[in-house]
Amino acid sequence: MIPDEIVEEIRARADIVDVIGEFVALKKAGKEFKANCPFHEERTPSFHVVPDKGFFKCFGCGQSGDVFKFLMEHQGMDFVEAVKHVAGRAGVEVREVKRSAEADDPNRPLYAINAFAQDWFRECLTDPDGGAAARTYIEGRGISPEVAERFGVGYAPDDWEALRSAAGKHGLEDDLMLEVGLLNTSDRKKDPYDRFRGRIMFPIESVSGRVIAFGGRDFESDQAGAPKYLNSPETRIYRKGENLYGLSWARHAVRREECALLVEGYMDVVSLAAHGFNHTVASLGTALTPEQARLLARYTKRALILFDSDAAGLRATFKAGDTLLEAGLHPGVVTLPPGEDPDTVVRNQGPEALGEYLDQAVDVLDRKLQILEERDYFSSIGGKRSALDRLLPTIRCAADAALRDIYVTKVAGKTGVRRETLEEELKKQRPRVAKTTKAFKSGKDPTKLLPLVPKAAVERQVLLMMTKGPEWVERATELISPEDFDDQSYRTIFHALLDNPELRVVPASMDALAAQKFEEILSDPIEINHGLEVFRKSVDRIRAEVVYRHVKDIQHQMELTQDEDEKLELLKTLKEWTKEVRDLDPTILQRHSASVGDTT
Ligand code: UTP
Ligand code: MN
Repeated sequence: MIPDEIVEEIRARADIVDVIGEFVALKKAGKEFKANCPFHEERTPSFHVVPDKGFFKCFGCGQSGDVFKFLMEHQGMDFVEAVKHVAGRAGVEVREVKRSAEADDPNRPLYAINAFAQDWFRECLTDPDGGAAARTYIEGRGISPEVAERFGVGYAPDDWEALRSAAGKHGLEDDLMLEVGLLNTSDRKKDPYDRFRGRIMFPIESVSGRVIAFGGRDFESDQAGAPKYLNSPETRIYRKGENLYGLSWARHAVRREECALLVEGYMDVVSLAAHGFNHTVASLGTALTPEQARLLARYTKRALILFDSDAAGLRATFKAGDTLLEAGLHPGVVTLPPGEDPDTVVRNQGPEALGEYLDQAVDVLDRKLQILEERDYFSSIGGKRSALDRLLPTIRCAADAALRDIYVTKVAGKTGVRRETLEEELKKQRPRVAKTTKAFKSGKDPTKLLPLVPKAAVERQVLLMMTKGPEWVERATELISPEDFDDQSYRTIFHALLDNPELRVVPASMDALAAQKFEEILSDPIEINHGLEVFRKSVDRIRAEVVYRHVKDIQHQMELTQDEDEKLELLKTLKEWTKEVRDLDPTILQRHSASVGDTT
């Protein structure tokens, strides 16, 4: 949109120290400038700005780039905004034209298709006859035509091929329509068909305002069993856990208000905006991911969570709270009356009422303390101990050092446990088995990473999957037994799950350490790819260790015996077992090679 030569001129004329210095307290150090890094928490400055070369780099967290990159990362601007911001300071006039880089984007056709579809859904909504019912529904939900237009809300008629044929006339191919998920295929149908039918359409935009997906709310509910909301599948341009609905519209307001409202649904965002709460974003009904939290952290350090107030909503609230804390945000919890969501509150009770609920927001740790207090956790020593186990994980999540300090003080006061003791406890356990989680989450074939992961992490992995459904418990029972677990706590948890495969709360009888670990497992939001295979390999790995122990036993017996026949017999068994170990886990012998070698 801005010609490359102009971008280059602005970059050349920019005073990077001046631009970054607006946000970061830079100190001169020789030819460079230094500061505590604004992208991560630190006490000694490892953030460098090099004016001669026009770039910044943090040697702590690795963030680096030019003046535009800084504004995009730190201020959440898109490229064009960043260029204009710098131009303004450098006194260069910016003339926007189509940027050639944009033409080279391989995903361009997908964006184009979504843009076309959004236009078409809008036309359907404004169509005098065809759109009447949809308009009535939208108005009935308190959304004015202006607000609907602002959010690009449209209507997909209850028709199997309306969009497809409109797109066809426009020269858009089925293949690409399928790829962005606007069309679907089925074995029973010869041709691809419209995925969204009879739905109010909410375009989902990237931060820079491109339509990357849609959510459609059913309102002509003659489709029995149809989900209330249907969403685009994940595509090349849409990864669910990496986007927040509403952020493209809300980001300026979020920065202005220095706060974001985090809600669950499309309607909450649109309805709150309709009532003047423009700083609202939605996680779209799924658990808030670390990526979403980090995205939000680019715009503000404060977030208020407005989820349902039922038990599931509360669990989601605390899970989101921990995730926000880890991203360096300071989350507050807004408690709405039972059965209400932000949309119903603002519509039934008015914006002032919602404003009051917001004013009563409680810090996420305080909310935990309140709930534990209501449940009488602080009146006995045992209760205090269990309360601690529920509070410590949240304190550990707090990436902001000052906030963490406040939390420690609060919990010390409430439980009567000395600060130093708390600090010791906090050091004991990392919040999650981060590396493992990453390993299981990242690669295409997570099983390749399994051999690299510590045994305890594999045990945890198996337990985690066992909490995903009783069928996993059944599979596990067939293959492993409690004694196969090295970690005592994991053994306890395994027992508990065998007793009750549906167990999703920590039993009161469980010892503190196991309870804490179980709590962490239950609140782990990870979704496992290649589930069955990861499970099998994990179980194999555990069994391999068991058999390996037999191998060691036999080696030991061989050392002890003088009887040559017995030795031969043992050797035979040793070979069998060794083969089994290898089959179960090809890398185990290498891993233990040091100890296997020294049998003489
Ligand atoms: P809710 O069921 O709370 O719906 O789901 P809502 O947002 O209050 O919707 P309205 O007010 O009845 O229109 C919260 C969010 O969960 C996702 C959607 O993102 C929804 O906004 N969801 C819900 C789905 O993706 N599919 C569903 O079938 C239901
Ligand atoms: Mn609702």
